[in-house]
Order: sequence, then C-alpha cells, then structure tokens
Amino acid sequence: MKKRVFIFISGGGSNMASLIASMKFPHPGYPHLVVSNKENALGLLLAKDLKVPAEYIPINKFEQSFFKIAGKAEPDVICLAGFMQILTPTFIKRFKGKILNIHPSLLPKYKGLKTHERAILAKEKTSGCTVHIVNEKIDAGRILGQAIVPIQRCDTATTLKNKVLEKEHVLYPQVLKKFLEKTIS
Ligand code: GRF
Repeated sequence: MKKRVFIFISGGGSNMASLIASMKFPHPGYPHLVVSNKENALGLLLAKDLKVPAEYIPINKFEQSFFKIAGKAEPDVICLAGFMQILTPTFIKRFKGKILNIHPSLLPKYKGLKTHERAILAKEKTSGCTVHIVNEKIDAGRILGQAIVPIQRCDTATTLKNKVLEKEHVLYPQVLKKFLEKTIS
C-alpha cells in the first residue's frame, strides 16, 4: 500500500511542488493532503493546480484540527516545507519520528531564521540545506541528508537563497523516498 504523505506549508510551496512532482509511480508514497496555516499561501493554489487536496487551517486551531484529520487517515510521514509554526511537544510526540523538515543551512550550523545572511556575514565558504527529523528542539533532530552549496565572494543572501533552494528541491524528494523505503530512518 502506498504511504500517506502530508505536507505542511505557509508560503510559496516550491518544496511542496518538488515533493509532489517526485511522487510518481513507482514511488512508495503519494501526496494525501497539503495543509497551510496561512490562508493566502501561494502554495495552496499551487497544490490545487497539481490536483492535490489542500486545506487551510488557522494557526490557533492548527494542531487540534489536524489531530482530527489524522484520526481519519493516519499519516505515514508529515513533511514540513516552509512551514512557519513551532509545533508543540504534544504534537511532536503524537507523530514521533514521522515529521521531516527541510532547513536552509548545513545544520547544526545556523539554526533558526536568516540563515543565508548569517552564513555570508560569517564569511563561510559553503552553505546548503538539511533534511532532518523534527524533535522538541528547534532544527536539532536527527539529520537524514544534506546538500552543499559553495558560497562565492559575490553572493548576497538572495543569490545564496536561490542556489540553496535549487538544492532543496532535489534533496527533499531524495530523502523522502529513502525514508519511505526505510533505507534511512
Ligand atoms: C525553504 O528555504 C525552506 O528551507 C525553508 O523555507 C523555505 C520554503 O520555501 N524552511 P518554499 O515555500 O518551499 O518555496
């Protein structure tokens, strides 16, 4: 049986779109539902264009409402893809080991926000992205995969963000597939 993949977004949804595009036969998973905590997230429209069910749940009701959804169709995995909300320990415990996140830095470096600005300011030679399991500590769960991007002298936070985003679109689908095939955990 195909595995149920839920994708949580808050914004443009480019990672969501790359995950959806990757789940073609004979992929072990399928995009069951996209959930946004922002009503006007562009990713919601994109999901609908891609013929994937998509729903808006306001931040203040998010976890409670999702528990009900999951009660009817248990997620095999929840992919956070630009999802801007800190999940509570109760939520993380309920889906322990099943929540993945993509972060735009080479963790454990540069947890949190403004990763590209900080990497450039620190004169790093490389940056990149990381897919990890979500645990109670922010951006600190087990690392499942990373992709490296060299930082050029002429890079700005914007150019670096775009280069890293390109890598994210390749890395996240690769990790999701391996995760569902249980070749990484
Ligand atoms: C990505 O850079 C991701 O690493 C970070 O938020 C951004 C989301 O972009 N968590 P998108 O919505 O997938 O285009």
